[in-house]
Amino acid sequence: TTRSLFLLPGDGIGPETMAEVAKLIDHMNAKEGAGFVTDQGLVGGSAYDAHGEAISDADMDKAMAADAVLFGAVGGPKWDDVPYEQRPEAGLLRLRKDMALFANLRPAICYPALADASSLKRDVIEGLDILIVRELTGGVYFGEPKEITDLGNGQKRGVDTQVYDTFEIERIAGVAFELARTRSNKVCSMEKRNVMKSGVLWNEVVTATHAAHYADVELTHMLADAGGMQLVRWPKQFDVIVTDNLFGDMLSDVAAMLTGSLGMLPSASLGAPDPATGKRKALYEPVHGSAPDIAGKGIANPIAMIASFAMCLRYSFAMIDEAVRIEAAVAKVLDDGLRTGDIMGDGARPVSTAEMGDAIVAA
Ligand code: NAI
Ligand code: MG
Repeated sequence: TTRSLFLLPGDGIGPETMAEVAKLIDHMNAKEGAGFVTDQGLVGGSAYDAHGEAISDADMDKAMAADAVLFGAVGGPKWDDVPYEQRPEAGLLRLRKDMALFANLRPAICYPALADASSLKRDVIEGLDILIVRELTGGVYFGEPKEITDLGNGQKRGVDTQVYDTFEIERIAGVAFELARTRSNKVCSMEKRNVMKSGVLWNEVVTATHAAHYADVELTHMLADAGGMQLVRWPKQFDVIVTDNLFGDMLSDVAAMLTGSLGMLPSASLGAPDPATGKRKALYEPVHGSAPDIAGKGIANPIAMIASFAMCLRYSFAMIDEAVRIEAAVAKVLDDGLRTGDIMGDGARPVSTAEMGDAIVAA
């Protein structure tokens, strides 16, 4: 088998962390015949410098054709003044839109070695392993009308509109239930049906999808504000959380901070299965940005990018054993005391980006 990966390292620390994933890919090809075929393109500011747009049509075509896309990070002060349509983030937004990546997966996992780095008590987060599934292409971020109107009396009105159709809720619920079956088989759906019509529909459609196709999975519902509270109070009660674009944006950031540094957090964004092949388009990226303050110094934490690659193995290639081994290797090097600057604690040994990557490959 060949497995095609399209690498978009981007700007700032993106290329530095992607280089550590490239080591893993080379290792898996050489030692295990993994058959990865990689190609690389430009995105963000580096693409703008090369050809005046945040991603070229040619690179877009390659992203659409690949089995999976690995994305580093984009942006930086150098491009603060480029025109809005060409700004670095436009490259990521085009990828999400053209690949129709409607499901955003954000795990929150507590590595035992870092349990004391959280602001929460150790027993609240030790062993934590939850997954937030956020709807990414609908809801209030995209609904029309979306405008600021002048009311003519010195007042203006800002309007955003939350819109969800049945099919959008069905497909994100389907992703959440499918994922739950590979984990602890529990889904908690979060909305605000007490004050929002779209929340009433969300609740109805998730319930109906569950009854029709996924009755084996345990389903609960929670109002999203209460869900935020429960995430901080006792996060281990959850397995998979499924929610809309806006609540998912906030709840996934809350869940992220349960476990520590931005430099540790991976994500996946998935599209619908191709009717012919059953394969989903997919993009994997760390949650963090291009970290201009530390770019070029060789000190960025590569774990978020490496953990994103582990998600890629799991979700795009069903290489579960390999994903588990990478995640175990990350846990091991942390147990051994290796730390990049962002996750330093007492008695830890500071290492470079490359040393951390090498240690994970070796483990
Ligand atoms: P950021 O995530 O780049 O950095 C925030 C802080 O966390 C910085 O102090 C940084 O040094 C640290 N940090 C982040 N990742 C790290 C890692 N792997 N290892 C060690 N430390 C790490 O967010 P910020 O500073 O708000 O944005 C910087 C640039 O990145 C901006 O141009 C922004 O637009 C862009 N950005 C891009 C994203 C993407 O490509 N998906 C997401 C977020 C921001
Ligand atoms: Mg956010």
